[in-house]
Amino acid sequence: MGFQDEYDAWQAAVEQTVQKRPERKPAFVNHSDIPVKRLYTPADGIDSEEAYLNKLGFPGQFPYTRGIQPTMYRGRYWTMRQYAGFGSAEETNARFRYLLAQGQTGLSTAFDLPTQIGYDADDPFAKGEVGKVGVSISSRLDMETLFRGIPLDKVSTSMTINAPASVLLAMYLVVAETQGVDWKQVSGTVQNDILKEYVARGTYIFPPKPSMRLITDIFDFCAREVPNWNTISISGYHIREAGSTAVQEVAFTLSNAIAYVQAAVDKGLKVDDFAPRLSFFFNAHNDFFEEIAKFRAARRMWAHIMKERFEAKNPRSLQLRFHTQTGGSTLTAQQPDNNVVRVTVQALAAILGGTQSLHTNSRDEALALPTETSARVALRTQQILAYESGVADTIDPLAGSYYVESLTDGIEERAWQYIRYIDELGGAVAAIEQGYMQQEIHKAAYDTQMAIERGDQVVVGVNKFTIDHEPQPELLRVDPKLGEIQAERLAKLRQERPAEACETALARLREAAEGTANLMPYIVDAVRAYATIGEICNVLRGVFGEYRSPIF
Ligand code: 3HC
Repeated sequence: MGFQDEYDAWQAAVEQTVQKRPERKPAFVNHSDIPVKRLYTPADGIDSEEAYLNKLGFPGQFPYTRGIQPTMYRGRYWTMRQYAGFGSAEETNARFRYLLAQGQTGLSTAFDLPTQIGYDADDPFAKGEVGKVGVSISSRLDMETLFRGIPLDKVSTSMTINAPASVLLAMYLVVAETQGVDWKQVSGTVQNDILKEYVARGTYIFPPKPSMRLITDIFDFCAREVPNWNTISISGYHIREAGSTAVQEVAFTLSNAIAYVQAAVDKGLKVDDFAPRLSFFFNAHNDFFEEIAKFRAARRMWAHIMKERFEAKNPRSLQLRFHTQTGGSTLTAQQPDNNVVRVTVQALAAILGGTQSLHTNSRDEALALPTETSARVALRTQQILAYESGVADTIDPLAGSYYVESLTDGIEERAWQYIRYIDELGGAVAAIEQGYMQQEIHKAAYDTQMAIERGDQVVVGVNKFTIDHEPQPELLRVDPKLGEIQAERLAKLRQERPAEACETALARLREAAEGTANLMPYIVDAVRAYATIGEICNVLRGVFGEYRSPIF
């Protein structure tokens, strides 16, 4: 009998079994509404060399489905880049140095909310939040403390900063200057992705138009002055954390990316001048195979978008380089040790999906910022996967899996549908202003929550396999008096800085903001003159106004 006959005969036999012993569920469908077949066969996979070359290609070659580097982790492991930051610059500097000493290979900075929305630590809006969810940075002095003893030409630093990204980038560059490091030796990333802030995270300041100006100013400035700086980390992470499906995570992130590239091109930038330094940031969630397929689909889609829609010629413009963080929203406060297992599975999916950089969540992060011990265990998770499991020794090992290839196609197909629809709405900015992405995410989030509450979706330790009394683990606490300490420091800075130079720099910034010039040089000058993040952002607030969400 031929294959199809054999398959049909097998199916018939299975139906007999199912009559006697029904399967766990009447139908298996994943969170992206993609049916999960009982069995995948060659008919679902890559069924010819031609299909292989069209859909997969070789690592380091278009369409990069199997990875962006010809040797991937055989040449270099992914960067182990743990997100860290809390309290004062001194405390976070100590945590940075601890993690580097424990073997992490890149820095990733978490800023507190006042910093993220452009307020000084002594601003009334900052009360109660100083140093709470990240490090408090108000001036270049705080930044110099944050990176004290860390050579900025030897380490790459990511900064999770969006609305005031240009200010923190300017502070970082001024610190490099104080260390005698040439900006051309500096590498790292600013998240600088305001669209997902409107959609999912909320740390926006200015309306879309001026925000896009500030973002593309960084593209232009860094292409000339800081060539190794990744100018944006277009994020799907927070879209997924807000409750989206994997398909929506890919689709909305790539739609936002299209909007950024289009805005830069409309500004007159040449696509190959800035596109190689665009980067991405995705979530590694619970559905292991779907996550691996998601990363592979995203790479292939981005390669086609840049080649066909934007006619990019430089291969580096076509390569989707991304950082991954394991899914914060999957962590449970109950039985926190279980989170080490969740994070391991999620990290493995990111590695098998070809991530360039990885953060593994700590087991206690559903309760507080991580302690040193839990941050170390999270880093060790990556190191064990890298050095002990063998999964980094060959490239894209799950390629050819009937299921993974079928899922990769399924995610890509559904994501294209969303992207085409968003194009019809007028693009990502218009879709966001109409609340489209937000509504889609809220619907998906609601469906998930209902499934958990019905018990259809099991969360171990939460709605199944629970225990009554468990000891409270040791948690990190931030000094509640930090706000006062920071306020005293700011008063001293404002007293001792060159007042006239600072005022002149702020006045020049205001004048430039009222015009059309690239604002980065003016922001760098203001930072050099010890202007604070609040003073700089207030000048820009005065010119651009503040964004008001159409949804809430
Ligand atoms: N062969 C040859 N060269 C290789 C190689 C190989 N196999 N592997 C890597 N390399 C090269 C790369 O090409 C690169 O050189 P280049 O800069 O000249 O191209 C160098 O080695 C470093 O490799 P990567 O660029 O791949 O790795 P990085 O870690 O430096 O950069 C990135 C990764 C994704 C491009 C970058 O943008 C990045 O680090 N992003 C991190 C973003 C981040 O940490 N975000 C955290 C956000 S936290 C958050 O928002 C959540 C909160 O809100 C809760």
